Amino acid sequence: MRKVQIAPSILSADFSNLESEVRSIEKAGADMLHIDVMDGHFVNNITFGPSLISSIRDKTELPFDVHLMIDPVVKYINDFADAGADVITVHLEIKDDLFEAIELIHSLGKKTGIAINPETAINEILPFIDIIDQIIVMSVHPGFAGQSFIKESIDRVQALKAIIGSRNIMLEVDGGVSPSCSQDCIDAGCDILVAGSSIFSANDYKVIIKEIIGS
Ligand code: DX5
Ligand code: ZN
Repeated sequence: MRKVQIAPSILSADFSNLESEVRSIEKAGADMLHIDVMDGHFVNNITFGPSLISSIRDKTELPFDVHLMIDPVVKYINDFADAGADVITVHLEIKDDLFEAIELIHSLGKKTGIAINPETAINEILPFIDIIDQIIVMSVHPGFAGQSFIKESIDRVQALKAIIGSRNIMLEVDGGVSPSCSQDCIDAGCDILVAGSSIFSANDYKVIIKEIIGS
């Protein structure tokens, strides 16, 4: 059976102990770190930039899945690549040139993702479908951790899985993921589950990760 991957979002980690949080989450079975960058413009919240990412790069072997909720984005991509991102995801809704962003990310040797907000028609992904490595289905409105999972996202995951077909594209679900909805996401065809508050509010990271991925 296909094994779903888990990408804890460090947005909900204890920032005063970030190094130990990153090491604990790696030990607990995380497959990658999900890193949420917000600019207070594209979304209504500000998080952190490349310097925080590079400060934890040598603390873990885990790949860095960097989710850029920023616009403009193109002029910052080099910095995030240098900081140690492995996958760089930009939003379908940006005003910046998405083709230019994707090309630049690939030219830097990184994988490229596109994130799609809950209210955006999924067919808008079609012009990019043959040049991306990952799609993030937003199952909350981006901007904050700790929101409730939007149930309609399951149908969108299923529809995007069908669009992806046999292409080599990872399908990730991000927002409000907990053991109560994770199996539905897996059944709908998702490859990677992002989870922030449900993991970092738990007492035992290993136990909660197992509960989320269902093993
Ligand atoms: C939302 C972010 C998510 C979020 C996940 O804008 O992209 O990655 O931090 O946190 P939870 O799992 O708490 O929704
Ligand atoms: Zn995210």
